[in-house]
Amino acid sequence: MKKQQLQETINYLKENGITNPKIGIVLGTGLGKLVDEITIETEIPYSDIPNFPEATVEFHSGKLIYGELAGKKVVVMSGRFHLYEGYTPWEVTYGIRTMHGLGIENLLISNAAGAINLSYNKGELMLIEDHINLQGQSPLAFGEAKEFGNIFADMLEPYSKKLNDLLKGIAQKHDITLHEGVYASVLGPQLETRAEYRMLQILETDAVGMSTVPEVIVAKQLNIPCCAISVLTDECDPKNLQPVDIADIIATAGKAEPNLVAIFKDLIKEL
Ligand code: HPA
Repeated sequence: MKKQQLQETINYLKENGITNPKIGIVLGTGLGKLVDEITIETEIPYSDIPNFPEATVEFHSGKLIYGELAGKKVVVMSGRFHLYEGYTPWEVTYGIRTMHGLGIENLLISNAAGAINLSYNKGELMLIEDHINLQGQSPLAFGEAKEFGNIFADMLEPYSKKLNDLLKGIAQKHDITLHEGVYASVLGPQLETRAEYRMLQILETDAVGMSTVPEVIVAKQLNIPCCAISVLTDECDPKNLQPVDIADIIATAGKAEPNLVAIFKDLIKEL
């Protein structure tokens, strides 16, 4: 049933011109500018795609974009689905399974995250080197999941060492600070309490956010090498907790965005 649904989605997209993407990209909150660098061939609103999750208010502008970037064919999810919006883990990761069906060979993910490691500053980038799933859910925990691959997917290298090494070299070349660290995924949508931030410090995480981990788990089930960069949008110091304003988070993401775009673009060139 699910497999058939997904196949319908993939067939529709192929019939509508998304024929040969090599790289899949998920753009996080406030991080849409990479799209300006793409020579767009096809742009399809999520609402037009059969069986794609239905839009919430936040999702009016969600679309799948196909075109050329740095000489490669890419497919971009501009707008992602979050568990905190009420989507199921299957829905949150539907786009990843779709891009896999379209033939992507690598997956690049971005997100906005809070800095738990207090030596990392707001506005800087962090390469996710490992994660801790605190969402209490898995996108592989449903009846038909084994039809898509091994549900006991190993998590030895959820983030490709090869891609991460390339990213580190590229950041260095551009003189862009790219921290490395562990990303904790939480359900949200509320932000964390002081006690929760202290817990995240004790767990030796470096950043916290509400996305990415389900997508990476599905990529792992499907054997798609993937990498993810967090844009650190706020500093989560339990001793000096400041009110967080979502508009402020989005503005900070926008300021750091040119660095993310430069790094992703060069990575795509090198793939
Ligand atoms: N917590 C959780 N998610 C976030 C944060 C945060 O502080 N900042 C950006 N996304």
